[in-house]
Amino acid sequence: MELRDFISNLEEDKDLVRIKESLSTKHEISAVMDIIDKRSGQAVIFENVEGYSSPVIGNLLSKHRRAALAMGVDEKNLVQEYMKRVQTKVKPRVVSDGPIKEIVIKDKINIIKEIPVLTHHERDIGPYFTSGIVIAKDPETGVRGMGIHRMQVRSADEIILNLARPPVATFLKKAKENQRELEIAVVIGVDLLTFIASVFFSPSGVDKFEIAGALKKGPIDLVKCTTVDLEVPAQSEFVLEGKIDPRNMVEEGPFGESWGTYFETKNPLCKVQAINHRHEPIYHALTSFSGEEVLLSGLGMVGHTLPSLEEKFPDVVTLWIDPFNRSSLIVQIKKSNEDTPKKILEYLLSNIIFINSAIIVDDDIDPLDPYAVGFALSTRYKPQSGTMIMDGLKGFHLIPSSVMKEGTGLVTSKLGIDATKPLHDSGKYDMVKVPSSAADKASKLVTKYLK
Ligand SMILES: Cc1cc2nc3c(=O)[nH]c(=O)nc-3n(C[C@H](O)[C@H](O)[C@H](O)COP(=O)(O)O)c2cc1C
Repeated sequence: MELRDFISNLEEDKDLVRIKESLSTKHEISAVMDIIDKRSGQAVIFENVEGYSSPVIGNLLSKHRRAALAMGVDEKNLVQEYMKRVQTKVKPRVVSDGPIKEIVIKDKINIIKEIPVLTHHERDIGPYFTSGIVIAKDPETGVRGMGIHRMQVRSADEIILNLARPPVATFLKKAKENQRELEIAVVIGVDLLTFIASVFFSPSGVDKFEIAGALKKGPIDLVKCTTVDLEVPAQSEFVLEGKIDPRNMVEEGPFGESWGTYFETKNPLCKVQAINHRHEPIYHALTSFSGEEVLLSGLGMVGHTLPSLEEKFPDVVTLWIDPFNRSSLIVQIKKSNEDTPKKILEYLLSNIIFINSAIIVDDDIDPLDPYAVGFALSTRYKPQSGTMIMDGLKGFHLIPSSVMKEGTGLVTSKLGIDATKPLHDSGKYDMVKVPSSAADKASKLVTKYLK
């Protein structure tokens, strides 16, 4: 389903807020996105953006129900269905033309004049693209790779890419070794399955358009770019084309990052040589440190971690990121041995760099339900025996409590919590509930009134 059809569906579902007041791209739009994200979690479209004719859409994937809508599945089956589909692959197909070719600008490039790029946070240095999928090819193998990367708009035709993670960061390294420039395309505003697939944690050499095709259960249509040897989704709203000289690293940031703190570093500069867009394009914005970030990262991380975790620990059922503490993983298990939680905690804390804590819960606790997880912590967790602290582990650059140690890099300590009830419990740890017949009836009834 292309982005525009998805937005129409949200409208029908009353899951889209239309803001008609004129708002500035500087702080005002992101402030509204943030409040809506935290209160109702609805998507939001800003119809009147000061100085622009294009609307801005935001909070598209801040709730599981909308990722489920994109996949065409029931919300409670989202993670399971996602896991099933990403095991397969469907190759994209290159078509001769598409809406993204409706307007192509190659002269007098002026990014900020054409696109309502938002300045999100108080101390951000300026406007940042936050939902851009960066596409490039491996300079040695020619295999395509992609990921979402923040990009600071530095001038009328320059962007600075936050390029920490593979595969594009690896391509740039190879381009540098071969003394070549790296061609990139930046895609903003695509169907949400391509968006979700773009951050699937994949081994190198995987074309994530094949994952997007698997999620869609059909090929993604691509068109060739105008000035670079790359292909982009035919239905995209905006596409920038450009080249990175890998020798040219410049100061980027500060920018309010995914974990909610400001970050600045040196990153590569890209000279933009073409802007493509559809007629009346819609600009897709994403707030970092939001529900949408957790959902996108969560799906990518679950797709990567769950299969190997299940293989190592057959008691594992599923896992998710704590929505209120994104450095924490919640793992649901069907415990067969009292020692299993400890073993899982040791493994996760030692191997997953993005977390500083993990909680193990039983299979009657939904890791996506913060109330249920809170219940497990308040009734089943025994601090004396259920706590594990590990020190000297590898830290993550966006979690500022990690410390730099000479010769080792960033190091941190981590917390593991076993919030499972004892095996063979007689019922004293059961959570109160209403009978399922009444719960089902209530759920259908309430959905009619509330989002
Ligand atoms: C919302 C969001 C924003 C991201 N921003 C960046 C970024 O600015 N820089 C970066 O290197 N990676 C960023 N990532 C991670 C990359 O897109 C990453 O490559 C991807 O999640 C995993 O793919 P990989 O296994 O191919 O690395 C972001 C991920 C998400 C979900």
